[in-house]
Amino acid sequence: MSATILIVDDEENARLFISNYLTGKGYEVIGVATLADARTSLQRGNADIVLLDVNLPDGYGPKLLDETRQLPFRPPIILITAYGDIDMAVDAMKNGAHDFLQKPIQLVQLEQSIQRAVEMVAMRRELTHLRSTQQQGAKFIIGKTPVMSNVVGQAHRAAAASVSVLITGETGTGKEVLAQFIHQNGPRSSKPFIAINCAAIQNTMLESELFGYEAGAFTGAERRKNGLMEVADGGILFLDEISSMPMDTQAKLLRAIEERAFRRVGGTNMIHVDVQILAASNRNLLSMIKDGNFREDLYYRLKVVDLHVPPLRDRKEDIPELVGFFLRLNNSRQGLNITDVSPQAMHALINYDWPGNIRELSNAIERAVLFCDDPGIDVAHLPADVVNKSVMDVENP
Ligand SMILES: Nc1ncnc2c1ncn2[C@@H]1O[C@H](COP(=O)(O)OP(=O)(O)OP(=O)(O)O)[C@@H](O)[C@H]1O
Ligand SMILES: [Mg+2]
Repeated sequence: MSATILIVDDEENARLFISNYLTGKGYEVIGVATLADARTSLQRGNADIVLLDVNLPDGYGPKLLDETRQLPFRPPIILITAYGDIDMAVDAMKNGAHDFLQKPIQLVQLEQSIQRAVEMVAMRRELTHLRSTQQQGAKFIIGKTPVMSNVVGQAHRAAAASVSVLITGETGTGKEVLAQFIHQNGPRSSKPFIAINCAAIQNTMLESELFGYEAGAFTGAERRKNGLMEVADGGILFLDEISSMPMDTQAKLLRAIEERAFRRVGGTNMIHVDVQILAASNRNLLSMIKDGNFREDLYYRLKVVDLHVPPLRDRKEDIPELVGFFLRLNNSRQGLNITDVSPQAMHALINYDWPGNIRELSNAIERAVLFCDDPGIDVAHLPADVVNKSVMDVENP
């Protein structure tokens, strides 16, 4: 993400040194020498992040911490402190400073600190962006990792071409929301999206759920019932947890896909439908095929396009944006306005490895919002697992 950094320092050499370094890293930089000029820049909303010297010709730098409190979003402020200013720096952190760096500035630390501030800004942008678009179905956060952009690019193509898609990935990575995304972004968006969880339906019932039945097909079948295949006509049928589908139903599904037609249970007429099939699995279908528990021909028929949603630990750069998204969601659900996450809390969120992926992150933020009385979320509001993991990181880096 690009960000504009305001450097407030009256020493020209220091300013140029930092400015050159950050420009080289791809940031926009504005340099000013006084508090007055810093205020002007901030009022205009020009700066995303502030690097602030403590002693300035026209006043005490940390005053900006109070003054920026009224801004719609207070930019993260990183103080540049002199040797011996530790007490002041600690006070400033309590007062909302993002971080402090001691002179002489170490570039590695500068870069890390800016990187964390950029994450905070990304989260807030997400929060405002969503507020301005007013939950218009923007339920799918793409993020910015190349691996996810690639998945989404392929999802767009699969949507446009109406081909079968097999979505794989660990639990909670967002397979179902990706299926909905394909529906919303393709030519079938005004037609039904029908989801069926193959693991949640008794084996014997799955077939009649999918294909429907005629009156008298079996005991209890008093009148004809349409199957989901028919209900989804023109739209999309999402077969979740496809690995739980019994082998004989798999065979019938394969035929239905190939012939674009099927018979109801107990029926003789072929019913023709136009349905795009999306299937999801968090189990390894290839090893199920080896063990004889999944049909190979169906597997290849389903994975005309094969989308693998990466685990969250492989796309940590997207965590701040997702945090912003879930904050907004919970704010609107609970009528709150929590807009801040402390740098320590964000650090913990980014360092945790999220075995439950985005679902676990979503739950963690929901819980944090619930426990949080302040405008901001802190480490104390996060689940113990998340915090312990990040403490371990600090102890054994
Ligand atoms: N990219 C995303 N943007 C926003 N929310 C997401 C995203 N990915 C997942 N989520 C949220 O995370 C939760 C889990 O997502 P989903 O149910 O799609 O996961 P799944 O891969 O189907 O998991 P499982 O294998 O356990 O069924 C949902 O609440 C979903 O809204
Ligand atoms: Mg799912």
